[in-house]
Amino acid sequence: MIAKLIIDKKREGRALGSAEIREFIEGFTAGEIPDYQMSALAMAICCRGMTERETADLTDAMMRSGRCLDWTLDIPTADKHSTGGVGDKLSLIVQPLAAACAVAVPSLTGRGLGLTGGTADKLETIPGYNASLSLDDFQRVVSDVGVSMTVQTGEITPADKKLYALRDVTGTVASIPLIVGSILSKKLAEGASTLVFDVKWGLGAFMKTKEDACELARALVSGAKAAGRKAAALVTDMNTPLGRAIGNANEVAEALDILKNPEPVADRADVALSIELSSLMVSLAKEIPLDEARALCREKLLDGSALEKFKAMVAAHGGDLDKFAKLLEQPKFKFKIQAMRSGVVSAIDAEKVARVAFKLGAGREKASDTIDPLAGVTLDVQLGDKVSIGSPLATLEKSGCPDGLESAAADLFKAFTISPSGGKIDSLIFERIV
Ligand code: URA
Repeated sequence: MIAKLIIDKKREGRALGSAEIREFIEGFTAGEIPDYQMSALAMAICCRGMTERETADLTDAMMRSGRCLDWTLDIPTADKHSTGGVGDKLSLIVQPLAAACAVAVPSLTGRGLGLTGGTADKLETIPGYNASLSLDDFQRVVSDVGVSMTVQTGEITPADKKLYALRDVTGTVASIPLIVGSILSKKLAEGASTLVFDVKWGLGAFMKTKEDACELARALVSGAKAAGRKAAALVTDMNTPLGRAIGNANEVAEALDILKNPEPVADRADVALSIELSSLMVSLAKEIPLDEARALCREKLLDGSALEKFKAMVAAHGGDLDKFAKLLEQPKFKFKIQAMRSGVVSAIDAEKVARVAFKLGAGREKASDTIDPLAGVTLDVQLGDKVSIGSPLATLEKSGCPDGLESAAADLFKAFTISPSGGKIDSLIFERIV
């Protein structure tokens, strides 16, 4: 294989053969193909695209670059992947809920880079929670408890780790085949037989338009099916933060509140979305009708089974929920913002809220930065709520020192739109791809 000829071929818009793709990725992973040639190919893919078959070959080659797990459990396996959002603590509900319905959930997750923390950052705010299990321990927790959420180790898809670092600095992130190869190779290597994708669009999402999100969702589902997995996707609205808490510890606290007392919030749009994502996992994994899976998920959320699974997972990872409760009570610096006019909350800009949470310390700019577990924003209102002058809109919190709180509060104020009417949305789901 001559790397340059493959780059030439893609630059000219021709489809690459399966062996060409496989050998290129193998050579890159082994360090035989230099970064500049991989970057050139990534740019050619960005500009020329890939067919479905090429994307499947790329995904397969990246998946095979590291260890691939397989599961020999007596219950089916499923995982949910979200393309990421603001206040997106849905995994903390969705995964234990699916596990409570007798579906095993092996979930390799990430630390956040950018405006908000990742699921692992959120879970790590629980004192003692080890989100860096070895793959063997991960497999043991999944088989003992039914669900584990831990950070993907370097043994899984090393090709993606190397390639993503290049894409990040060469303007080649925005390419559907490369995104599919990246997301799907990791999920396929994890070994779950059912994959459900929550592809978000809007102000607080990686995909800014519905159209792009639908294209990605379709490509993820068809790629997963081509690899022999059962798959579905929901394309969902990420213009407004999900739920009330945006941060890390406060998001875990909100998820725990929902698991402990789901009845009053079961129909809230973000909770309804969580139930729907679990239902899709359960329906596909157990091969039962979706309505039956929905009824089962509702039952297991309302009867506390999902809470028990969450607690069992935390304990198996070494986490201590009593210490977590004490952590939440630690003194913090707070600032409240209030409405300056009467009306209805018609918009809460997710990106602006995320920027404020980041400024307070809830996210990290580079991998070595540390997160303030207690930093974040808690919304007092949801879309469609009526407010009058002086009504609380949100609280900003951080630990350490109060510096920056007031200017962050001024920024947060700009995230709210208060109008005479409007706002409430009944469902976050824009499209279903099955
Ligand atoms: N998330 C990933 O894991 N990879 C991408 O390429 C984009 C988003």
